[in-house]
Amino acid sequence: LFLGPCEFVKGVVAMEGLPPADRLEFCMAGRSNVGKSSLINALTGRKALARTSNTPGRTQEINFFALADTHYMVDLPGYGFAKAPVAVVAKWQALLKNYLAGRQTLRRVFLLIDSRHGAKEVDEEIMSVLDRAAVPFHTVMTKIDKPRPADLEASLERTRQIIAKHPTAYPEIILTSSDKGDGVETLRAIIAGLN
Ligand code: GTP
Ligand code: MG
Repeated sequence: LFLGPCEFVKGVVAMEGLPPADRLEFCMAGRSNVGKSSLINALTGRKALARTSNTPGRTQEINFFALADTHYMVDLPGYGFAKAPVAVVAKWQALLKNYLAGRQTLRRVFLLIDSRHGAKEVDEEIMSVLDRAAVPFHTVMTKIDKPRPADLEASLERTRQIIAKHPTAYPEIILTSSDKGDGVETLRAIIAGLN
């Protein structure tokens, strides 16, 4: 499955800057450094469409990518710890929550969780924002090339228990590695089915 041509549209730092809500939209959300931008690159087969980095806090704007004429794929700044000034981080976090709760055309969220750690309290906070806004989300474990099998199993189990408490969560957890390509076709199929 191929997503078709994809191009960067704009980076947004305030709700007023959002592009017109005239397409279906889905986004990548998750803690800083979890692998959101890398997954966008893996999905589109482009190495550097979205900028990635070892340093948490790389993506600092809400980045819109146009998929064909019908969808926006959105890369969000991370939440949680980031190597940036406190006031700046606080501003992204507020924007992020406003976007997740208030974007009319947002159809689906991919909520990324590091497979070495499992879901954390900050992830639960975001899940609650999505519950209240009735925006359905898929839980996506990232970097599954990294943990030992027993550690992956433990963080999966912890994450399953957490998402079971959230009515807007899809029950299946999608295992991915942007480096190795695991899970990428599964995600493309979900995206292709969005309407
Ligand atoms: P912020 O924009 O800072 O919130 O981070 P992000 O969630 O966009 O993460 P990003 O895609 O920039 O990746 C963070 C780091 O994790 C980079 O060094 C990536 O190379 C690495 N990474 C991402 N996905 C994978 C993966 O599947 N496997 C491995 N081993 N490393 C990964
Ligand atoms: Mg990023």
